[in-house]
Amino acid sequence: MSHPVSLSRDSDIGVIRINYPPVNALGHGVREGLQNCLREALADDDIKAVVVIGEGKTFPAGADIREFGKPPQQPVLPAVIDEYEASDKPVIAAIHGTALGGGLEVALGCDYRVALDSARLGLPEVKLGLLPGAGGTQRLPRLVGAQKALEMIVGGNPIKAAEARELGLVDEVVSGDLLEGALAFARKLVADGAPLRKISELDVPGDTSAELFDHFEQSIARKQRGFKAPFSCIKAVKAAVELPYDKGVERERELFFKLMVSSESAAQRHVFFAEREVAKVPGLDKDTPKREIKQAAVIGAGTMGGGIAMNFANAGIAVKILEVKEEALEKGIALIRKNYENTAKKGRISQEQVEQRMALIQPTLSYDDLSDVDLVIEAVFENMDVKKAVFSELDRVCKPGAILATNTSTLDVNRIASFTNRPEDVMGMHFFSPANVMKLLENVRGEKTSDEVIATVMDLSRRIGKVGVLVGVCHGFVGNRMLHKRQAEAIQLVNEGASPEQVDKVLFDLGFPMGPFAMSDLAGMDVGYRIREELRKEDPDNAPPRNWTDELVEAGRLGQKTQAGVFDYKEGDRTPVPSPDVDGIIEQYRSDNGIAPREISDQEILERCMYVMVNEGARILEEGIAARPLDVDVIWIYGYGFPVYRGGVLFWADQVGVKTIHDKINEIYQQTGSDVWKPAKLLSELAEQGKGFYR
Ligand code: CAA
Repeated sequence: MSHPVSLSRDSDIGVIRINYPPVNALGHGVREGLQNCLREALADDDIKAVVVIGEGKTFPAGADIREFGKPPQQPVLPAVIDEYEASDKPVIAAIHGTALGGGLEVALGCDYRVALDSARLGLPEVKLGLLPGAGGTQRLPRLVGAQKALEMIVGGNPIKAAEARELGLVDEVVSGDLLEGALAFARKLVADGAPLRKISELDVPGDTSAELFDHFEQSIARKQRGFKAPFSCIKAVKAAVELPYDKGVERERELFFKLMVSSESAAQRHVFFAEREVAKVPGLDKDTPKREIKQAAVIGAGTMGGGIAMNFANAGIAVKILEVKEEALEKGIALIRKNYENTAKKGRISQEQVEQRMALIQPTLSYDDLSDVDLVIEAVFENMDVKKAVFSELDRVCKPGAILATNTSTLDVNRIASFTNRPEDVMGMHFFSPANVMKLLENVRGEKTSDEVIATVMDLSRRIGKVGVLVGVCHGFVGNRMLHKRQAEAIQLVNEGASPEQVDKVLFDLGFPMGPFAMSDLAGMDVGYRIREELRKEDPDNAPPRNWTDELVEAGRLGQKTQAGVFDYKEGDRTPVPSPDVDGIIEQYRSDNGIAPREISDQEILERCMYVMVNEGARILEEGIAARPLDVDVIWIYGYGFPVYRGGVLFWADQVGVKTIHDKINEIYQQTGSDVWKPAKLLSELAEQGKGFYR
């Protein structure tokens, strides 16, 4: 490969071009090239100013994350950027695409910045469990003030070129040809004899008070619970206002290196790559042809159906939404509008966008209206007979080549496919509630689903803003199958003597957004109850035995929606409050079943709730329901709020130690003889070989 960085001349302006696809990340070769080209340009008396620009789709989008964790290779990025800042000729960064992380830090080492109007600029290191480690935390506040720098560095979200211009982060925004714009800007600087601008020499403008930092920290404390990086970012920016530049940089480095070796950052980097890796399905040729999806449809205008339809409208794809009863259809459409209006009220979309999106959603009462759709997703009641009726209709009306998907969360996709004459076009698309918010999409491949359909649905997932993970057919697929095991264990722990609030607290403290019982209250206790009752009818031998949660449902305690479930809720308040009534029902259950409650430690709760999931995850891998451990991890992060800084259930298991987990599982199996606790074959093998899921 030719050298990734080159220097050329355009009359008296030197042009340094970075060409290192896909995102011009600042890997070793790029850093070396940037250094050499700058030195060459400075040594050339005919060059009066230097423009730095990225080839392809972007200005560098950051340090090369693949180099993290490996021994650093000279020159390191901060040193390269310092050389740019020390240049005695003006250096202008010409920015397009996404100038992120180390990329933006390079631009901050330049004297001036010119950006294309479509460019975005940001310091997203916090999302990798890091902080900008190449001077970003010291230079950015000197340009935009402490408040804005905190927002950008701690929030990690990029801003648009126009806002960057307003903040003074960018000196000029151009449209059309970026290089031409940057060259013209450089020539004017030379002609005007404009001064060099070394950001490190500036003072931080605006409010730099200690209160500003205290308030900021308080404002993020709840949302960033468990993360390390956001709090280190605040400390680093504070150093920019409290210390001279050189000392501030030292503080930044110190904080950066601590984060770099932290388990949180390792986990977050793992998630970054895992999220991209899930799109690459093993065994599926990446050149598999994909079908065009221009017109979608959703069957069912309930909360789920409406949420699913919104994803398509948000992505600019026309979507029909079908209900059999006019009243239900109107109610569903009104709910969608209300959701959009609420988003508009929060300023996240404009009223015009509300109307554009609503215009893409076409209500219908007739299956015959679906004859032209490219994809249809069924989101009706979880009952096989109902699914049969829907899929027979779809098979009748849909054109050949249309993809017929089901949003079922537990039912057998192969059976659903068998209700049609085109099982190769049928697959599961399991959205998570609320479907317009949750990023996970479990795409379920049936026995006969064609590669073309799989490739199309995986691609479509990304188009509609989801992280699509391909899974196989089994009860509950990957996520709910593991969840059900955890839920059963949580219930069993309460049977034995734990309180629901103790169980919830242990999992909340691990980093889950809520514990298992608060979660079932949120989802509605009747959902699980109905599934259990169905199983008790269909397969009594394998159905879960009755437990105290069945009694709660039968007593009308359905969860948040009735202000009473496992916990009590005050009107308009989602905070779970322990309920004396529920304690009574639990005590009664224990005494009816001859259980003498015992003291249960938090450690036992953690082990039993988590290890049972690890064991099930291993079985899921063994059976090929998920292709790789990373597929399981991505499902838990995006579908159930597993803490990103722990990297997913199986990544977490590796950190605890697979052998430790295996031995505990085996111990419980010996004590209980319960099948659930029989160590998965894969787990035993890994433990024996001293391996982990990833290591
Ligand atoms: N290093 C290495 N590889 C990277 C990368 C990086 N910084 N950023 C993206 N890539 C890779 C991706 O892994 C992906 O590779 P594959 O095609 O092999 O899967 C490829 O580039 C394309 O990425 P996306 O699929 O994400 O493409 P996109 O167009 O949707 O998004 C992007 C592009 C906005 C740049 C996005 O990739 C992104 O957000 N990247 C991360 C940016 C980032 O976090 N930068 C900070 C790095 S840390 C740092 O810079 C520390 C420091 O201060 C010294």
